[in-house]
Amino acid sequence: MNGFDTIPRDKLPELLRTAPKAELHIHIEGSLEPELIFKLAQRNGVALAYPTVEALRAAYAFTDLQSFLDIYYAGASVLLKEQDFFDMAWAYFERAAADNVVHAELFFDPQTHTARGVDIGTVIRGLHHACQRAQAELGISAALILCFLRHLSEDDALATLDAALPYRQHFVGVGLDSSERGHPPEKFARVFAKARELGLHLVAHAGEEGPPAYIESALDVLKVERIDHGVRCLEDPALVQRLAALRMPLTVCPLSNVKLCVFKDLSQHTLPALLEAGLCATVNSDDPAYFGGYLNQNLLETFAALPQLGAAQAYQVLRNSFEASFVSADQRAHWIAQLDAAFGAAAATPVPR
Ligand code: HPA
Ligand code: ZN
Repeated sequence: MNGFDTIPRDKLPELLRTAPKAELHIHIEGSLEPELIFKLAQRNGVALAYPTVEALRAAYAFTDLQSFLDIYYAGASVLLKEQDFFDMAWAYFERAAADNVVHAELFFDPQTHTARGVDIGTVIRGLHHACQRAQAELGISAALILCFLRHLSEDDALATLDAALPYRQHFVGVGLDSSERGHPPEKFARVFAKARELGLHLVAHAGEEGPPAYIESALDVLKVERIDHGVRCLEDPALVQRLAALRMPLTVCPLSNVKLCVFKDLSQHTLPALLEAGLCATVNSDDPAYFGGYLNQNLLETFAALPQLGAAQAYQVLRNSFEASFVSADQRAHWIAQLDAAFGAAAATPVPR
């Protein structure tokens, strides 16, 4: 694969923790920890359905995507002011820095906030300021991706894109999230065509709970450059071949998949099969405050649970995270050189006898 399979397994956790990495699938509203939800609720005078942090956390027992989304949208109801959006994103960046995330592309859901009367500018300005400060103070490169909620209409998505246009320079792409089943990508053909004309990058959640056909229509109709999740592609061998030939990135989220019952446990996760098939799979945290961990936790637990995953696969998923990112070729090469150095040093250290 890449020569790093000589690195012993006991070196993997440290290597995974310290290597540079990019995160490409993180819903910033899903990084809102219960403690911050309560703090913002108090600051803004918003009533919560749970009396304590512990009671809220105890409700994080999900049976599928929708059972999660109901609680996730309720949690986001405490976000009202620009400072709230800044505080949420800053808390994420501090955790990302601890995981040696050097680049992050953050999803945000404007419709979750505009539906409550929050101006879209308030949302974008708060998040953008956090991105600027992450670069200045933590050395993290960050970009925003505006997601449309697929349970709402395409007209609502079109109005949202229009409303965001005064802030066009503050986001690099558009995505598609929320309830997948019954809301196929083709429902959003026009708004993605418009985003494409505007020069925005295009991504969409597909094949998390929805069928492989949704991955195909995300490619064919929406013309996306990455598939978010995409794990159900394995049900269609011809699709797997197509995705591999295109080097189409899949932003896989292992802890999310277990929490939302896509897989029974991490030992059942198909990340090894995706990599074996030559797919450009990456590892991401999705909604870390709800699913049990940030990026390094996802990497460490997944590699610990699956014996087929060793240092060669660790290098591959981290390299894929840079290959799949929306950055310049120079920037990408710079991070890949750092990654090569980290793995090269681990491979060069003699194994004690
Ligand atoms: N899937 C779909 N929509 C979402 C998710 C997810 O995992 N997280 C936040 N919105
Ligand atoms: Zn997601």
